[in-house]
Amino acid sequence: MSELTLGIEGTAHTFGVGIVDSDGKVLANAIDMFRPETGGLHPREAANHHGEVAAPTIRKAVAEAGVTLGDIGLVSFSRGPGLGPCLRMAATAARALSSALGVPIMGVNHCIAHIEIGRVATGCDDPVLLYASGGNTQVIAYSGGRYRIFGETLDVGIGNMFDKLGRDLGLGYYAGPKIEKLAMSGGELLELPYSVKGMDVAFSGIMTAALALRRKGHSLEDIAFSVQETCFAMLVEVTERAMAHVGKDELLLGGGVVQNMRLREMAATMASERGARMFVPDARLCVDNGAMIAWLGRLMYESGVRMPIGETVVEQRFRTDEVDVTWRG
Ligand code: FE2
Repeated sequence: MSELTLGIEGTAHTFGVGIVDSDGKVLANAIDMFRPETGGLHPREAANHHGEVAAPTIRKAVAEAGVTLGDIGLVSFSRGPGLGPCLRMAATAARALSSALGVPIMGVNHCIAHIEIGRVATGCDDPVLLYASGGNTQVIAYSGGRYRIFGETLDVGIGNMFDKLGRDLGLGYYAGPKIEKLAMSGGELLELPYSVKGMDVAFSGIMTAALALRRKGHSLEDIAFSVQETCFAMLVEVTERAMAHVGKDELLLGGGVVQNMRLREMAATMASERGARMFVPDARLCVDNGAMIAWLGRLMYESGVRMPIGETVVEQRFRTDEVDVTWRG
């Protein structure tokens, strides 16, 4: 069997196709992101986008890697968690490709893929992952043969909250970078609910409170600043407690929201105060991408996991801690 793996990501707005070798070297990582013209992310529209770009993105990845489809020995795809229509589209593309090429197929957990690509790309060994993206916000670490969730959002992912807040503030969609830019000019820390419950966090109340502050006449800059400071402090607090609890001294960041430099700064401060090291993969490996799906598929395959095509059903609520981690000793 060829040692090249092609991975297909399609849990939400991004359709990605990556190709990795057996050492986790990324040979290609093509990404095509659905950008709604107005309003939010509609799962059906995003899935239609994925269907349209599937074949060209696969071709692009193969060309980028300088290989042919005949060189691919394993196809993997994101089984979940994610939006049903998007997941089904990515799974369909993967099944078709696996059948056409006559190679095995592997469905993988998207959140764990973020950890494993982070480990191989940055060289960290046993990190606590702060995974902050549009649809997901979790603090994850390996313990007793599984990746356990030590804390997570009780409502929406932090990135989705930023997007919805940005839309309601008139900043357009995918508003995270705009909020970050505005926050740099803000300075007054306005009061927002600090929503940490045990080890979990919640964001929707913060959004409601931020919109109320806007109606009272506070500037976009101060609101953006306060939202970032509050939300990131919550995330960093929970992450720090998870690191203390499991006794790990590596912090790995993953997910699109960790592109935010203020979040990185706060996480780095926490890590250094604990004597821990922080690791951040390249931007294209932090966001949703096919290379991470390919790499986790390869790890699972090498550890002996096999997935008949009839078992390649998607799981919208696929939990990180459902997966037996067979590839870590
Ligand atoms: Fe993700």
